[in-house]
Amino acid sequence: MAHLNSSLVLFLFLLLHLFHTAIARGGESHSGFVDNSYAAASRRHLSEENHFKKLDNLAHGYMTNSDLEKAMKAFHGRCSRISRIYSIGKSVFGVPLWAMEISNRPGKEEAKPAFKFIGNVHGDEPVGRELLLLLANWLCDHYMKDPLATLIVDNVHLHILPSMNPDGFSLRRRGNANNIDLNRDFPDQFFKINNDLTERQPETKAIMNWIKSIRFTASASLHGGALVANYPWDGTQDKSKSYYACPDDETFRYMAKLYSESHYNMSQSQEFKAGITNGALWYPIYGGMQDWNYIYGGCFELTLEISDNKWPPANELHTIWQYNKKSMLHLVASLVKSGVHGRVFSSDCGEPLPASIAIKGMNYTIKASETLADYHRLLAPEHQYEVIASMPGYKTRSTTINMGEDPMTVDFILEPINSYLPHQLCNRSSINILEVVAKPHFQAALILMLVLTFLFFLMKRKAISNHFRGRKQRRVSAV
Ligand SMILES: *[C@@H]1O[C@H](CO)[C@@H](O)[C@H](O)[C@H]1NC(C)=O
Ligand SMILES: *[C@@H]1O[C@H](CO)[C@@H](O)[C@H](O)[C@H]1NC(C)=O
Ligand SMILES: [Zn+2]
Repeated sequence: MAHLNSSLVLFLFLLLHLFHTAIARGGESHSGFVDNSYAAASRRHLSEENHFKKLDNLAHGYMTNSDLEKAMKAFHGRCSRISRIYSIGKSVFGVPLWAMEISNRPGKEEAKPAFKFIGNVHGDEPVGRELLLLLANWLCDHYMKDPLATLIVDNVHLHILPSMNPDGFSLRRRGNANNIDLNRDFPDQFFKINNDLTERQPETKAIMNWIKSIRFTASASLHGGALVANYPWDGTQDKSKSYYACPDDETFRYMAKLYSESHYNMSQSQEFKAGITNGALWYPIYGGMQDWNYIYGGCFELTLEISDNKWPPANELHTIWQYNKKSMLHLVASLVKSGVHGRVFSSDCGEPLPASIAIKGMNYTIKASETLADYHRLLAPEHQYEVIASMPGYKTRSTTINMGEDPMTVDFILEPINSYLPHQLCNRSSINILEVVAKPHFQAALILMLVLTFLFFLMKRKAISNHFRGRKQRRVSAV
């Protein structure tokens, strides 16, 4: 009996201890490290402990990192047909950086634009991670019911990373576990900071690899502490605090306004005209994620400050979601509802060409995809543009479009510069023949073969250009 009693006491003690731990950690189950390191630090700094406690109270009602992972998996469980969950890497503490893709064909490569949302870049700005789960679930619930939800799921590959900085979140601070501000950790266009690969944070590396592996057309990261849609450039060459326009200034102002004007009251800001701002005019930063996306990723990224209060009480999250819902949906849908889109083919074999697409007068180029050769180029509406497609070995083509409010489709058929060159032959096996040509004893036979192939591809080319005649520089307005 006595033995049983002591067991019971021990059991109760353990239970209580567990309970206590869970509260002190704010329910964090991912990294015991957080607790231990914090405990050590707090013995030294009582004020820090108070600060932490205050933030912990603020985080009451917010998802912990493990809650977030569960919520993502629950979302995927409910909506497995239109979603997939994958990890883009790990944080310093080893927490997986889980991302969701929402699309009617998740994980498939298609000639469609891709958008990404990133939340919680700064550990102490947790509103975005909550809103992104609400967004995902709203899309799931309204697919095939709401036209905007259906448009997005059917025509865009939407990728969502609710938390880029789970360690910063569990530490209740801006930086990651190494106390590095991740929005200053990217390579910079003006200054040689962050170029040392060994110094780069794992969270930053994961994002950079992600951007290299998926061709995102546009994106947004969600922050807190202000209410404004911020667009490139974020930094100036001379470090002055002044308006510094990127080549797509008009496009970005269009996107930022789309967000602020669809928002409950962002556009009514006293501080920022129309609720938008050029980053460098507000305050210049270097090594930010936004400019890097535009320069190296061909991706038009906005930095969205979605609430003045970084940690609003959790019961306000639903209201903030309602304030931002239309903005978030319209921004993603703008990839389908505006801009110029198309594919690029070679005139000889009809093969997709990963050509460069530029707009005359704008020093910026995007690339059509390697495999499907589709391109998606955002542009401000109500303008005339000259769209230029170029590809080494092919004649550059351009066409002028009068862009209204609707998106346009422009496909390009590029002609080889020199049709007689054997390297223009249509498939790889023909190209392999070339290597053999160098060997003299094959030459006689191969000259005959080349002549025959040439005749064949001349005929084929005629057939293909007939096939594409209707599509050549097609201008289609669609929803
Ligand atoms: C927007 O509305 C919120 C909630 O009513 C308020 O706290 C905030 O000050 C408003 N901001 C602007 C710019 O009107
Ligand atoms: C175009 O942009 C590149 C950087 O992307 C820059 O090096 C170059 O000087 C620019 N050219 C012009 C004409 O502005
Ligand atoms: Zn921030």
